[in-house]
Amino acid sequence: MGHWLSLRSRCSWRWAVVLCGVAALSTIQLYSFCRRVGSEYKKLTRVMALQPPVLTFEELEQVEYLTLLPPYGLKHPQTINLNDEFLNESSNARTIFFPSYGAVDPRKKTNTTSHTGLFYWPGKVWLDTGGNPINAHGGGIVFDGTSTNYYWYGEFKNGRTYHAQGSNTARVDVIGVSCYSSKNLWEWKFEGIVLHSEKTNVSHDLHFSNVLERPKVIYNEETKKYVMWFHVDNAAYTKAAAGVAVSDSPTGPFEYLHSVRPNGFESRDMTVFKDEDDGKAYLIYSSVRNREVHISPLSRDYLGVSGVTERALIGMYREAPAVFKYEGVYYMVTSGCSGWLPNEALVHEAEAVLGPWETIGNPCVGANKAFRAATFFSQGSFVLPMPGGERGSFIFMADRWNVAELSDSRYLWLPLTVKARYENERFTPFPLWSRVAIFWHERWRTPIKENGETYYVAKPYQLGEDL
Ligand code: DGJ
Repeated sequence: MGHWLSLRSRCSWRWAVVLCGVAALSTIQLYSFCRRVGSEYKKLTRVMALQPPVLTFEELEQVEYLTLLPPYGLKHPQTINLNDEFLNESSNARTIFFPSYGAVDPRKKTNTTSHTGLFYWPGKVWLDTGGNPINAHGGGIVFDGTSTNYYWYGEFKNGRTYHAQGSNTARVDVIGVSCYSSKNLWEWKFEGIVLHSEKTNVSHDLHFSNVLERPKVIYNEETKKYVMWFHVDNAAYTKAAAGVAVSDSPTGPFEYLHSVRPNGFESRDMTVFKDEDDGKAYLIYSSVRNREVHISPLSRDYLGVSGVTERALIGMYREAPAVFKYEGVYYMVTSGCSGWLPNEALVHEAEAVLGPWETIGNPCVGANKAFRAATFFSQGSFVLPMPGGERGSFIFMADRWNVAELSDSRYLWLPLTVKARYENERFTPFPLWSRVAIFWHERWRTPIKENGETYYVAKPYQLGEDL
């Protein structure tokens, strides 16, 4: 019995030691876990403090109607046919589309009380940091992680607008691709022409008498090169090819490599889309006389197309594709085909970039019927995530082409929102317009806080306000 008791007390003593050890270890682990969580929390709150305020869907999605007021030299501005006025080069109403006063000048931001200088103002001349109109049409934007700059590339349109022999299409001679840099998507510094047209060799793809349109740049992490794709054509638009150029630096110079008809197919209006989730990139282009849109994966170095061609939007005659991805779903905004003249935009969506693509409707909201039916009198070129915006908010970039003087074409940047959609909502019959919508605003801005106030919502212009 005594032996049994001493055995029991020895056992419980051992257990006590083991339990104390476990308790001590757990306390140490709990302590270090709490410290880790604490420091992560501190880091997170520090990061959050640096973030710009979040712009809510409600603020972006304010439906704003367009009020046309005299003076346009018109007695009843609300009853005019806007399409006719847009096409009529001598109409007084053209100032509705191409205002000649009050350029948007980001350099004025410190000396204006009205903050007019801080707004995106669709259709107005938009000056760069040197005081010159930004000249980057049909363009696209890339964010460069190394310099933390945004780079905007586009067609540098200058000189006389004319019709080439045998062509109905208005044109300017090709000068090249311009590049602008910015930290905030608002103040843009001109970085120069990063790809020049060819002056003497008439058989060169980039000879100034040809066509170079819709340049887009993506970065290849493997080769560390910036790769530019664009539409290369002759003045009659019958060559229908895609050109590619490459550079070690986002500000060029870009070296022209060649043009290609992807897998033998025509390629006119185009974009490139890089899927940031897997690094794969795609050339997406209007093909078969613009009857359909094709999607061709690029090679690993992005300098060529692979052997795959997927066909989408067959028989729909769509142009100007702008592709983006949100919550695993791919979206494409396209225009119809009517040359430089505006027409109705459509949004298409797909669960894989190679398709199948489904058309979900006209995304334009607000302004008035004529504006909505003509993409607010513009044509899309690119969609990019809105910095500081709520999830699902993007910027839609478009050109308002001035056929009478292409070099005086304007830009429209407007908020585009995608409603959050979850698996179990996948087939909920939302009204189509509410899934992807581009909201008209006479002027608006991305969320930036200044002097304790946030000026990001559209604020219609008040008569008499400082321009
Ligand atoms: C519409 C295209 O989207 C533009 O890039 C340009 O090619 C014009 N057509 C030419 O008419």
